[in-house]
Amino acid sequence: DDFEGRGVWRYADALPFDEGVSIQEGDTPLYEVPRLEDDIGVETLRIKHEGMNPTGSFKDRGMTVGVRVAKELGVGRLACASTGNTSAALAAYGSRGGMETLVLLPAGKVAAGKIAQASLHGARILEVDDNFDTCLDFVQELASRGEAYLLNSLNPFRLEGQKTIGLEILEGFLADYEAVPDRIVLPVGNAGNTSALYKAFRELVQAGELAEADVPKLTGVQADGAAPMVEAIENGADEVRRWDDVETRATAIRIGNPVNAPKALPGIRETDGTAVSVSDEEITAAQRDLAGEGIGVEPASAASVAGLRKLRNAGIVDADERVACLTTGHLLKDPDAAAAAGGDPEPVPGDFDGVLETLSDDA
Ligand code: F0G
Repeated sequence: DDFEGRGVWRYADALPFDEGVSIQEGDTPLYEVPRLEDDIGVETLRIKHEGMNPTGSFKDRGMTVGVRVAKELGVGRLACASTGNTSAALAAYGSRGGMETLVLLPAGKVAAGKIAQASLHGARILEVDDNFDTCLDFVQELASRGEAYLLNSLNPFRLEGQKTIGLEILEGFLADYEAVPDRIVLPVGNAGNTSALYKAFRELVQAGELAEADVPKLTGVQADGAAPMVEAIENGADEVRRWDDVETRATAIRIGNPVNAPKALPGIRETDGTAVSVSDEEITAAQRDLAGEGIGVEPASAASVAGLRKLRNAGIVDADERVACLTTGHLLKDPDAAAAAGGDPEPVPGDFDGVLETLSDDA
């Protein structure tokens, strides 16, 4: 089953091929969240949950295209640096395509679910004693020496697939409200999605399918401890300064050198968007807020909702806005963060009276 014409591949006209190496990616839910919408105080809030892709993150949309291109080129080994999700997706799509995969991960800084995926799908995993940005330096060097084909978001074919996130959001809003969203809020690491969504919208404008004035405001959110894009936006800088020391509970976006910044900065500026950073505590609170609506996300994903709340409180986002928040990865990616945010189970004795007694203690 090549999934031709469905999910990501429904948008084949906007992609370099008609079909890909597919595990049935895309067509993710655009959830209503009435309580959260009320609580944050915007006209409309919808959650585009990319955690509902085959390997549990948006990376699958990029890999179905990128791995297809690699197959076409007949390359030997596929490689990426990763904070976890890219490695899980590369391992899965690489093995589906019958190719060898190599992933470089920052030691001790990748969530358990992601390493388990990369491992079971058969990637060779190197744990580097440094951060993600150094891992990406190494993979770029391997690629330039012809040792591997690079499948990080520097690979433009990845971003072609990720454009479909933006196309699905617009279609969903048009179907439900007969208008596209005013704003799309998304977590930012390497700024691949920010670049991909901007490209998708520019192509629609060029094709006469979307009015320039209707392009949603691209609004990026980073963690306080890894916020070089926010720094550049706030300073009106043309270049992003690489942060050598980064730290955040949201390990997926623990990134100090957003390699797609040259494409993403114009995207944020020209759509009249903005960028904001949030604390780890705000991220965990947003993770609980989403969980309270039945939506399970990993910490980096919750950054979008945390950022929206912060911008709404600051009056930068207006009450009459229609907003889509992107949640990029599934709760099960980072079970340790979820358990810490949720709290511990209560031990009870193995008899029914003990259970009753524990329950009556609450009264
Ligand atoms: N959210 C999650 C869950 C991610 O895994 C990533 C990136 C991002 C957001 C940031 O997206 O780079 O397009 O701005 N993860 C990469 C990885 C770095 O290796 O899995 P971006």
